[in-house]
Formats: sequence, C-alpha cells, structure tokens
Amino acid sequence: MTLHHFVLIIHLLAATIWVGGHLLLAICYLPTALKKKDPQIILNFEKKFETLGMSSLALLIITGIWMAYDFGIKAETWFHFSSGFEKVVSIKLILLFCTFICAVCAQFFVIPNLNKNNIYRIAIIILTVTSIGVAMLALGSTLRYGGI
Ligand code: HEM
Repeated sequence: MTLHHFVLIIHLLAATIWVGGHLLLAICYLPTALKKKDPQIILNFEKKFETLGMSSLALLIITGIWMAYDFGIKAETWFHFSSGFEKVVSIKLILLFCTFICAVCAQFFVIPNLNKNNIYRIAIIILTVTSIGVAMLALGSTLRYGGI
C-alpha cells in the first residue's frame, strides 16, 4: 500500500462519518424534531456528534489537500478552473467554505435562540450542510476519472 492509498482510506473513513452523520441527522432525527417541535432532539445529537464530526472534517481537509498536492494541484493553481482535476478540488474548497459559513450561522445566530417557533432555521442549515456533504462526496468520486 502506498502512502497516498493510506491517506485516501483515511479521507474515505472521514467522509463516511461526516456525510453519514449528517444523513442520519437529516433523515432520522430532524423529521422527529420538526414533528414534535422539539429543538432539543437536534441539540442532543449535535452535542454527541460534535467532536467526532469536527475531527472528521479536519481530517477531510488535511488528507484532501495532501492528496491534491500529490496530484500536483498546489495552492498557486487553486481557483484557476483550468484542468478537470483542479476544477473539482477548487469546487470542493468553495463548498468547504460554504460549510464554514453554515457552521458560523448555526453557532452564533441560530442555536443561541433556538425555540419551537424558529426550529425551521436549523432545519434549513442541516439540509444545506448535508446536501453540500453529499455533493463533496459525489465530486470526489469523479476524481479517479480525471475530474469534471
Ligand atoms: C465533506 C468533505 C469531503 C468529502 C465528503 C469528500 C469525499 C471524497 C470521496 C468520496 C472521494 C473519492 C475517492 C475515490 O473515488 O477513490 C474523494 C477523493 C478526493 N478528495 Fe475529497 N472529500 C471531501 C473534502 C475534500 C477536500 C477539502 C479536498 C481538498 C481540497 C479533497 C480532495 C480530494 C482528492 C484530491 C481526492 C482524490 C483522491 C484519489 O483519487 O486518489 N476532498 N473525496
């Protein structure tokens, strides 16, 4: 096994946790929370998932950038949208930034005054972050064919 292959396995495990955790939240916990108008169901899940989720996102970034460098996609070439591979890496980085924006909105604007009347706000953020995660996964799967 090469070092790249090992790093890829870590990337895939982290993607499984990040995307899987968000799908579980969006498909299983969110509908119950919305039906019962109980934000605590979501907050309890987030509390348990936070450390694992954030560590896997950090690993995704480190391993992703590592592999991009391995393929010669260095910081100077990001956001040029010139080759298929670099295009995917750049889109992934933009989506990563969107994920951060969602996290900041959730932590500072939505969660502090979450109640049964504005629970839809956290629902929008959960569905957005989950969709972005699935998009990152789908984009990643194109890289073995040279990108888009
Ligand atoms: C939520 C975040 C992410 C998810 C869910 C994700 C998911 C994936 C998946 C499923 C693959 C497919 C591997 C394969 O087909 O063998 C992949 C590959 C890859 N990802 Fe990510 N990724 C994420 C973030 C990133 C970031 C931030 C970067 C770097 C900027 C990145 C760079 C790469 C590279 C370079 C590959 C190709 C590895 C190879 O084929 O050797 N990823 N990713």
